[in-house]
Amino acid sequence: MRIAVGSDHGGYALKQLLAEHLAALGHQVEDLGTHSEEPVDYPEFGAAVGRAVVEGRAELGLCACGTGIGIAIAANKVPGVRAAVVHDVSTGRLARQHNDANVACLGGRVVGSLVAKDAVEAFLAATPEGGRHRRRVEALAALDAR
Ligand code: RB5
Repeated sequence: MRIAVGSDHGGYALKQLLAEHLAALGHQVEDLGTHSEEPVDYPEFGAAVGRAVVEGRAELGLCACGTGIGIAIAANKVPGVRAAVVHDVSTGRLARQHNDANVACLGGRVVGSLVAKDAVEAFLAATPEGGRHRRRVEALAALDAR
């Protein structure tokens, strides 16, 4: 799978770890920065990952900041993005199954590395359930279109 990754300084270490993990699993990873722990502002990086997904350069996106929250808000500003803060296997899985999330966001300062890897693997392995969830995702798309 083609996966775009991005972070600010607060998520840099986790983004690096997850990017290496995903590459080792055979995924094609596009790293959109940041590239060091020098302080940067998360909106730029969340938006870059979101754009990569909606423009079709990546199938899914993965973001990290200190909490996962700021970069999720940023990614969600890109129409067509459904970014979810995930922090364990259940939220990783349900973000895909129920919300058809196309970007997963994690907090490098609040989630341990093993839990983060498991959460991301669950996110990637799950598929949207459809049914009543499809209707709700379509309603989200209608909000984008307004
Ligand atoms: C940066 O210090 C921190 O505010 C940021 O990484 C993130 O946690 C924001 O949501």
